[in-house]
Amino acid sequence: MQEEIKRLEKEAQEAIGSAKDTGALEAIRVKYFGKKGVLTALLRSMGALPTGERPKVGQMVNETSQRLEGLLENRLAIFQKAEKQQRLAEEAIDITIPAREMRLGRLHPLTLVYQTTRDIFLGMGFEVREGPEVEWEKYNFEMLNIPENHPSRDMQDTFYITDKILLRTHTSPVQVRTMLAQKPPIRMICPGRVYRVDEVDATHSPMFHQIEGLVVDKGITMGDLKGVLDVFAKALFGPATRTRFRASYFPFTEPSAEMDVSCSVCGGEGCRVCKGTGFIEIMGAGMVHTSVLQGCGIDPRVYSGFAFGMGLDRMANMKYGIADIRLLYENDIRFLEQF
Ligand code: DAH
Repeated sequence: MQEEIKRLEKEAQEAIGSAKDTGALEAIRVKYFGKKGVLTALLRSMGALPTGERPKVGQMVNETSQRLEGLLENRLAIFQKAEKQQRLAEEAIDITIPAREMRLGRLHPLTLVYQTTRDIFLGMGFEVREGPEVEWEKYNFEMLNIPENHPSRDMQDTFYITDKILLRTHTSPVQVRTMLAQKPPIRMICPGRVYRVDEVDATHSPMFHQIEGLVVDKGITMGDLKGVLDVFAKALFGPATRTRFRASYFPFTEPSAEMDVSCSVCGGEGCRVCKGTGFIEIMGAGMVHTSVLQGCGIDPRVYSGFAFGMGLDRMANMKYGIADIRLLYENDIRFLEQF
């Protein structure tokens, strides 16, 4: 028995000496001192010894246990210290490194002009509507009174998907959608992308943006049209802005007009931007054609309305003095950072 205890102590000492980390030490502790440990078993088996031998052997086991436990604890302390040191080193944060610069994003000039425009019309009681960019030919042309032989229906000008479905060439089909869905009074604007077959140059892009407007109610007149659009132009381009309306033609309005605003660069004196005229055209407008109202189930003897449509890209360029529409789509950070 005593031989066995000595042998066990030696074996345990060697194991402790060659353990590599706290995990290994824990395994040793369990092996010798655990519930099913070797030394625990020895103590239990003492009952089988002759009574005379028990105290001596008991003392030996106890002393051995104490030595081994001391050894274990020392080694454990050493490993724990080393492991803590290693963790501290790994998790070290260098608080002297300068903070990474926060890059603030900016709104795109198109978004800026849209938001300003939207807010002006919201302030006059308009709602915002949206419609699909892939549109029925019927809504884009037919119900807007645009006849079969109209040049804008040409394959040269319009991206057709089938002969009944196309990429909308303007936001005006949203007028139709709104009137089909809702009875007057209607006061809405509709922003969105529109598409036309065009080569890209400084003033053309096959995709650009428009904002449409529609008001339908009892007793709406050309005076309402001029008043609303004049308020809008002054709010967007400044209080000194003057507006003028020229007679024009659109199939879906009668009478039709084009609205010019005094040039924001020269104030109306005449310059390179306004080509010496002092004015710049910014939108088409007019009284909603009775056939369009009727086609959408609105009785033109009871209701009348006005509509307008403007190019958002053009207005952004005017407002910010941008000379080339391509800049709006190239995502060049040096350009975008200026807004
Ligand atoms: N849809 C026209 C275009 O794309 C613009 C326009 C003109 C819209 C007159 C209107 C309007 O609502 O009344 O050129």
